[in-house]
Amino acid sequence: MSKHNDQATRVTVKTLLKRKQDGQKISMLTCYDAAFAGIIEKSTIDMVLVGDSLGNVVLGMKDTIPVTMDHMIHHTAAVARASSRAMLVADMPFMSYNISIEQALTNAARLIQEGGAHAVKVEGGSAIIPQVKAMTRAGIPVVGHLGLTPQSIHTLGGYKVQGRGDEAAKMVREAKELSDAGVCALVLELVPQGLAKEITAAIKVPTIGIGAGPDTDGQVLVLQDMLGFPSEFSPKFLKRYATLGETIAAAVAQYDLEVKEGSFPAPEHTFQ
Ligand code: KIV
Repeated sequence: MSKHNDQATRVTVKTLLKRKQDGQKISMLTCYDAAFAGIIEKSTIDMVLVGDSLGNVVLGMKDTIPVTMDHMIHHTAAVARASSRAMLVADMPFMSYNISIEQALTNAARLIQEGGAHAVKVEGGSAIIPQVKAMTRAGIPVVGHLGLTPQSIHTLGGYKVQGRGDEAAKMVREAKELSDAGVCALVLELVPQGLAKEITAAIKVPTIGIGAGPDTDGQVLVLQDMLGFPSEFSPKFLKRYATLGETIAAAVAQYDLEVKEGSFPAPEHTFQ
């Protein structure tokens, strides 16, 4: 296989930019393991995000703060093994890029080299511009993230819509700074529709919204949320495309019943 083969079929930063220029929407989903990555691989989803939502969604943590570089590399590598088409983005976890440019470069390199990611995602605006510039200069594509940034949950004081009132102008300014610093895309999380539309028009690179309305260049959802497990989580922005939580619970209960009443395994499941 040619060393250039991967880029022939892969969604890349160039694809994303062209999509924006052509007015074509970009689809992104989170994923944390090879089993689901294999299913997503069969679709035409453009970008797969190994989000640090890994903490809440898979590792049973109450937020994303305890997620470490080692967690992210472990799960990114699992997704990478089952993925050959979508662009693979990995979140840089809490405090893995804020301390210094050197720290950001070292950790981004690990996600690319050991995890197999094609881009890293970082949360924040003006404060991390030097890191974004250094990573892009080093050839590492960077996705920005503004609005509700879960790594700052203790500062933001809860999972609520960001950028209302006076905060809007600051978010537009920071989006432009990130775009000028070289991000290849910008996630906007829990942002009013009008502000997301303004930012989308103001920057060169695609915006990917979650709870930011229909006017962003693309959309992202957490895979497990859109599949309906756990079934209790239902924020306004979420559309559930399946109710797998209920389906799995029913299957588990039926298996338990059949084992206990002795009807499983049946003759057809048994070797003679
Ligand atoms: O960690 C994550 O899943 C994210 C998405 C919600 C954008 O950052």
